[in-house]
Amino acid sequence: MSLAPDSGFDARYFRTALGRFATGVTVVTTTAPDGTPIGLTVSSFNSVSLEPPLVLWSLSRASSSLEAFRACQRYVVNVLSAEQIALARRFATGKTAERFHGIEAARAPAGTVMLGGECAAWFECRNRSRYEEGDHLIMVGQVEHCGHSQAAPLVFHAGGFDLTPAGRPEEPVR
Ligand SMILES: Cc1cc2nc3c(=O)[nH]c(=O)nc-3n(C[C@H](O)[C@H](O)[C@H](O)COP(=O)(O)O)c2cc1C
Repeated sequence: MSLAPDSGFDARYFRTALGRFATGVTVVTTTAPDGTPIGLTVSSFNSVSLEPPLVLWSLSRASSSLEAFRACQRYVVNVLSAEQIALARRFATGKTAERFHGIEAARAPAGTVMLGGECAAWFECRNRSRYEEGDHLIMVGQVEHCGHSQAAPLVFHAGGFDLTPAGRPEEPVR
């Protein structure tokens, strides 16, 4: 096993260690106060509670969308399929307001903007609570509506997208 050097805390080593945790990839979408649809690529998504149905994700305090996400009523967590890798790249770069240009958008049941096309899953959330921690804002959402497809999910680890198509696990473990 490879251990972190003991002289102080090595942030780069920490990032590399975190990268060994494979995640899915989401794009979280909402509407800015001026009515512009906005969104960004997020891999820090996770489940929190079944009753009530809660999920979380964390937003960098350096995000240009910080205030819009802090203030919005609802957002949608769009879980990307392997086919949607271009959306993962688009929503991680460039100007926030331009990310929706030329792509298919849709509305979730309560009216929140979401990605069009077939995601692996989506969760329309009420912006329930927020916790300032370190350089991120932890966002806890109460899921009001959700959906899923059979599309293989996009996987991210070691700082890159996994281009081998994600198969189905042999047997569900829980
Ligand atoms: C795979 C991947 C996962 C990411 N996960 C997060 C995340 O969980 N939280 C976050 O704030 N940024 C995350 N980012 C970075 C943002 O997508 C990126 O910084 C984006 O440009 C922020 O846009 P904004 O400033 O318009 O909010 C991720 C990027 C990639 C490529």
